Amino acid sequence: DDVALKSAVRLIREVPDFPEPGVLFRDISPMLADPAALRAITDALGRGLEFDVVAGVEARGFLLGAAVAQAFGTGVIGLRKPGKLPEVADRISYELEYGHATLELPADTLRVGQRVLVVDDVLATGGTLGAACRLIRQAGAEVTAATVVMELTALEGRDKIVDEHVRALLRS
Ligand code: PRP
Ligand code: HPA
Repeated sequence: DDVALKSAVRLIREVPDFPEPGVLFRDISPMLADPAALRAITDALGRGLEFDVVAGVEARGFLLGAAVAQAFGTGVIGLRKPGKLPEVADRISYELEYGHATLELPADTLRVGQRVLVVDDVLATGGTLGAACRLIRQAGAEVTAATVVMELTALEGRDKIVDEHVRALLRS
């Protein structure tokens, strides 16, 4: 419920100057470690949405994604950084503020036409979540929604995810 969700959100830590000076890093680790908070966040991410499978983005999206999948009775797919998977079905590269990154879809996981709930912890510049959604669609599946615990609105990441429904439990 709303009260549980508000208590959960208070467990997000704000850490100045990580990973570099000037960045205020939001760390959801204490929230995940709390049973009531994990339950509230998990329910809020998936509530009212129709999906066949969850895709969690490495690394914190793995933890949240698996919890959401279990709560709503689906399986979970981990979208991985390069070099980790023995067999890759598809991959996508995308631009970061400085440099580029790649996400990979494991072989024999996503099926054509499946409705996918994409889950991650934080929407910052939107590069990661946007690429995750493109990777899903490129593989012939459908993105039900792109969901995160927290959206950092000043970075305008939502503008990069124009084709999808974005759900953020918290904006900051
Ligand atoms: C963080 C976060 C998102 C992404 C958001 O992951 O968990 O996946 O960055 O940033 P963006 O909106 O600017 O793309 P990070 O790169 O720290 O990787 P990790 O979870 O593997 O530590
Ligand atoms: N927390 C987690 N991941 C992030 C953040 C943050 O504050 N900023 C960019 N990616």
